[in-house]
Amino acid sequence: MPEIDWDLLTGAAREAMSRAYAPYSNFPVGAAALTEDGIIVSGCNVENASYGLTLCAECSLVSALHMGGGGRLVAFACVDGKGNVLMPCGRCRQLLYEHRAPGMVLLTVSGVRTMDEVLPDAFGPQNL
Ligand code: THU
Repeated sequence: MPEIDWDLLTGAAREAMSRAYAPYSNFPVGAAALTEDGIIVSGCNVENASYGLTLCAECSLVSALHMGGGGRLVAFACVDGKGNVLMPCGRCRQLLYEHRAPGMVLLTVSGVRTMDEVLPDAFGPQNL
């Protein structure tokens, strides 16, 4: 399991946030995650004139994960336009859950939490 460098991860999330396309909400978001292989993947939110079609930063991150060959996520961080830690929305917790490594941790507003803590009793592949 790779060592988690939270400064590096939040730095990657801030860098991703700078690429956000958020002309409607003016709320840019950047997300970054570390894979089991020690690779950092990142993403930014991409909005749309049809507001409901907005892609969260985590959607972009998960796409980047797969385009880069896939893998399991061991650590995740997300920031707002000021670079402050942001909680992933409920839908995105589910997205991240699908691709988690066992024991995955997230940097949250209340410190480092496990995936199971931010999405308890989750629905997932194990239910199908
Ligand atoms: N947003 C994300 O990208 N991820 C989240 O987890 C929370 C919300 C984006 C969606 C929208 O572009 C903006 O933040 C305001 O809701």
